[in-house]
Amino acid sequence: MSRISEDTSTQMLPANLFRGVRDKVHVRRLQKQLERVEDLIFENLNFASPIADTTAKYLAAAGGKRVRPLLTLLTSELGDGPSELIRNAAASIELTHLASLYHDDVMDEATLRRGVPAVHKTWSNSVAILAGDLLFARASSLISGMGEEAILLQTATFERLCLGQLHETIGPQAGDEPLQHYMQVLADKTGALIASAAQMGVLLSGAPREYADPVTIYGEKIGVAFQLVDDVLDLSDDKQQTGKTAGTDIRAGVATLPMLLLREHAINDSAAADLLRRIDEGVQMIEGGADPSILDVEVQELYAHEVTQETQATAKRWADDAVYSISSLPDTIVKDSLTALAESIVNREG
Ligand code: IPE
Ligand code: IPE
Ligand code: MG
Ligand code: MG
Repeated sequence: MSRISEDTSTQMLPANLFRGVRDKVHVRRLQKQLERVEDLIFENLNFASPIADTTAKYLAAAGGKRVRPLLTLLTSELGDGPSELIRNAAASIELTHLASLYHDDVMDEATLRRGVPAVHKTWSNSVAILAGDLLFARASSLISGMGEEAILLQTATFERLCLGQLHETIGPQAGDEPLQHYMQVLADKTGALIASAAQMGVLLSGAPREYADPVTIYGEKIGVAFQLVDDVLDLSDDKQQTGKTAGTDIRAGVATLPMLLLREHAINDSAAADLLRRIDEGVQMIEGGADPSILDVEVQELYAHEVTQETQATAKRWADDAVYSISSLPDTIVKDSLTALAESIVNREG
């Protein structure tokens, strides 16, 4: 599996990330650093075993936005800026993220990831789980030389990521409020890793310690916003943009904010109740072996429903809160870029 070509690697930065930020020199500097992180990611995915080597590199080579490493590089500019330590931390965060995708696609029975067949579809569930574990091993190995604080942050983050996935899998239990449970799941499974990407940049760059909390809160909030936008994108029929099949989560019965809001609307809105009933029945039939395409119409209806706009508006609120949380940072290009990044997450199309 060859790595990303020069052509595509120059497009790795989210296209609209620096909308509103005029400093092209800064963008180019970050781009160069991100390319060095990219090399580190692939160096850390070399395995002597051909099957391990091929499967470990498969998703990294397939693409991805590299939002987390970018964030580490960016927040490191609050201190001494990108160094070997920072680039290794950024690579380790992306490896952890990548590993979680191997496992997630098994759990969600996803067919496509980053525009290519999911690992478990190309090989098998067992191979996907083990390849993900190999990536977790390499991420841990990379972080192991960075001191106790970084190691503890990595382990606590990994634990929250697993708890988020576990609580999502099990669903709300007696006494849990479904919406609150869901938002906690998002903060844990996605927010924690993005928060730690931002935090690492401060902790390992000699930046003032008082910057750690604001960027961590910022990271967690954009993580939640990011995931809420993902709920909207899951319903979008544009595979070119999302690299996934529309309604993958809905068809697999995975909770998303549009579905939770639909359940609330269904209490006193008969049209919403009818759509909800058809989706619930479809999910059960798919579980029983029916073709997932039986829900094509309902996925489109849900996408057009007001609950999807409500989800997008909620994502925007979280992104706005993220920006508010970094108010105390000095007014520099870093703050401008973090603000632009929060906006680009809400407006992203894939
Ligand atoms: C996808 O993350 C999984 C989530 C945590 C929502 P990204 O949207 O950052 O995925 P890539 O890395 O760009 O493929
Ligand atoms: C991705 O979560 C994996 C983690 C956050 C650990 P989702 O299942 O919500 O995201 P996609 O839709 O597969 O990218
Ligand atoms: Mg998934
Ligand atoms: Mg999932």
